[in-house]
Amino acid sequence: MAQVYLNGEFLPVENAKISVLDRGFLFGDGVYEVVPFFDGRPLRQKEHIDRLYRSLESINLKIEQKPEEWDGLFQTLYALNKDDGDNQSIYLQITRGAGKERSHNYPDGVKPTVFAMTMPFTPGIRVQQHPGGKAITVADQRWQRCDIKSISLLGNLIPHHRAQEAGVTEAIQIDESGRVTEGASSNVFVIRDGRIITPPLSERILGGVTRALVLQLAANDSRYVCEERELSADDLQQADEIWITSSSREIVPIIELDGVAVGGGEPGPVWQYMAGLYRSYRDGTS
Ligand code: PDD
Repeated sequence: MAQVYLNGEFLPVENAKISVLDRGFLFGDGVYEVVPFFDGRPLRQKEHIDRLYRSLESINLKIEQKPEEWDGLFQTLYALNKDDGDNQSIYLQITRGAGKERSHNYPDGVKPTVFAMTMPFTPGIRVQQHPGGKAITVADQRWQRCDIKSISLLGNLIPHHRAQEAGVTEAIQIDESGRVTEGASSNVFVIRDGRIITPPLSERILGGVTRALVLQLAANDSRYVCEERELSADDLQQADEIWITSSSREIVPIIELDGVAVGGGEPGPVWQYMAGLYRSYRDGTS
């Protein structure tokens, strides 16, 4: 039975209960993180925790836990659920807790609700051959603080559902100014003439930990030039390669966009190369 963490206790998921007045339930008033563990080792945990505290600060939510306190909790939770596989993400959610009534006012003196669980996943980059994914483009209809990892995800679920209905991996969102922002749950990269291009950090996208890692690996290696600049639908159409990145999906080469083959219609050479660098880093062999 899956063991989860709730407000200081480890317990079976069936026994974990929260109040119906929890502001996460009533308002989506909370933030979350997803930290991947590969073969029992977290990847870029510090970066995830740093982003958690930035998200908390952005919504004025103060917690007792210090950044260094999460590691022990994650390790215990991972060990308790080890039977579910070696590769698991830790899902951590913090809400503003349960007030006495449903009120838009942030309540005083209420303890935040802290919940964590594990989610098994299959790493995408196991071999140099990847089947690749397909994507569609959709309008970005979300709010203007997508840099906060908010649990209010309806704006991401709607495009995700469209992708699911279309039988593809991801919905790549384009905002009202024609700028590519990000996927429903991933960041977007375009490769053109050997340049690795991704939209710059802003309040319109989540600053992905995987995105930053890919940029860092590419910069350290210096075989390919990276650019952080706005991308348009035309850039997507003219791309030699398109990738999406996230902690659990890693780097996915998109081989078809809106029903049209991207580049050669298979994972491209820049993906092959960068996936190799990423895998070595992830597995600690670089
Ligand atoms: N999502 N953009 C959005 C909107 C996301 O939801 C995610 C990740 C990313 C990639 O961020 P990172 O590389 O730090 O995982 C970008 C997680 C995995 C989720 O919601 O499950």
